[in-house]
Order: sequence, then C-alpha cells, then structure tokens
Amino acid sequence: MRRVRSADQDQFARIAPHYDALMANVPYGLWANYIGQLAHLAGRPVRPGSKLLDLATGTGSLALQFAERGCDVTGIDLSAPMIAEAKRKAADQGLNAVFLCRDLADFHLPPEFDYAICVYDSLNYVLDGRDTERAFANTRRALKSGALLVFDVNTVRALEAELFTQDSRPGAAVRYRWKSTYDPETRISKIRMDFRIPDTGERFAVTHHQRAYTDAELRSYLRHAGFRPVTAYEAYRFVPPSPESDRVFYVAVATHTSKH
Ligand SMILES: C[S@@+](CC[C@H](N)C(=O)[O-])C[C@H]1O[C@@H](n2cnc3c(N)ncnc32)[C@H](O)[C@@H]1O
Repeated sequence: MRRVRSADQDQFARIAPHYDALMANVPYGLWANYIGQLAHLAGRPVRPGSKLLDLATGTGSLALQFAERGCDVTGIDLSAPMIAEAKRKAADQGLNAVFLCRDLADFHLPPEFDYAICVYDSLNYVLDGRDTERAFANTRRALKSGALLVFDVNTVRALEAELFTQDSRPGAAVRYRWKSTYDPETRISKIRMDFRIPDTGERFAVTHHQRAYTDAELRSYLRHAGFRPVTAYEAYRFVPPSPESDRVFYVAVATHTSKH
C-alpha cells in the first residue's frame, strides 16, 4: 500500500511557485548533454524514442530537456505543487511528458524504462538509508534489464563544509539567506532557508534536511537493489571523484538477472 506523506514532509511546497526563478541560472540543457555523454560512455547513448524516468523531477526542467530531444519522458516527485508546475510548463511548451506525484521510496511503474535519472542532490533529501535502498529497488523494477540509472549526490564533504550556508546574489528575483548546520552523528544537514520575493514583498521561511551518504553506502544499496556495475564521476567531468569532490555522479546498470 502506498505510504502517504503529510504536507509538512513536502519540503518544496512553499518554494514551488518560485523554484524556476530560483534556478534561473542552472544550465539544464548542459546537464542533459552531460548525462547524454555519461550514457554514451556506458555504451547506451540516449536516442529519440527512449523511455526515460526522471526521479524527483521537481518542476520538470531536466525532464523537458529530454522530451525536447525526442525521449518518451515520465517525471515523478513527492511534491504535488512541484508536479503541478511541471505539468503547466509541459503544456506551455507544447511538450509531451507524464508527471506523477510519487514518493521515491514507494512507487511502482511497469518495467519499461531505458533510463532513470535523478539530479540536483534530490537523493540527499531521502533521509533514511532504508528508503534510499527502496528508492533504488523501485527504480530497478521500473527499468528494463541493462538500462541505466544516472544520479548525483552532494557528498559528505559538501555537507560537512556547510555548502548550503549562502546568500542570494544581489538583484536576484528570489532573494534568500540560508544557514545549514551539519550533524556528523546522523550525517544530516538542517538548512534554515529565509526567502524574500522583492516583486511582491512576500517573505517565507522553510527548513530543509539533507542526508550525506558515503560512497560505500550508495554502492551497497545499489548492489542490493540489482544494479551493477557502478561508476562514479566528479560532477560535470569524466574523471573519478576525489576526496575534495562536493558533487558526484553515479552511473549504474540494471542487472540482467533479477535478484532484487
Ligand atoms: C532540489 S529539487 C531537484 C528537482 C529537479 N530534479 C531539478 O533538477 O530541478 C529536489 C526534489 O526532490 C523531491 N523529493 C524529495 N524527496 C522526495 C521523495 N521521497 N520522493 C520523490 N521526490 C522527492 C522534492 O520534492 C524536490 O522536487
């Protein structure tokens, strides 16, 4: 049975109408290129007509990049307001994509996808390792054998370094002040986020939580969920991560045997 998360577990509900303005400088097109190059390196270039599942799709910006490239795209996200934005954007842009409100730890889709992607540290928002392993297992079940999973995470080092303690740039359409506090015991960062929208004078605050996962944890969850081999890359590059890496991309192959 599907677990129902309460609205206060939706850390993006309040931000959803402003999310795209907040992310205005994020080069989703280049990210789509990078993921395409990782898929090419893994011997599975993304082709028009491929079925792609965008996990924690948010407002669907990356999903729609792949829809524009001719992929048959489905995006899922926990946050109903984020999914509503994604649907609105797809309609505005005249693009076909399916957007569904689902929890990564508790979703079921038929085993028809060639790719699953999950970016912008969305997996760090899953705070319990058992839920992360469930998310991978659910993803494995939605993929064809030999299909690819590509995702990124903020590393332990990034959260330890309080990467989220930052202020918006002067003149930004969404002004913010964020302060993160990392607990090395739980490896969870608590991020107090204060926002101000100059155009409307609106102000609001939300608290986000992100969990840092070690490379060994992620590999173990992936193996148990039925993914191997697993390759890690320094974000936006084609070299292995270093101890200094803040963001790492993983590419994992859905096993041909279904022991998961
Ligand atoms: C930083 S946003 C990234 C969104 C999108 N991938 C992007 O690149 O813009 C993180 C997203 O993860 C979603 N999320 C967090 N926990 C989730 C869960 N358990 N299941 C599904 N989505 C989740 C949030 O609702 C939010 O939309």
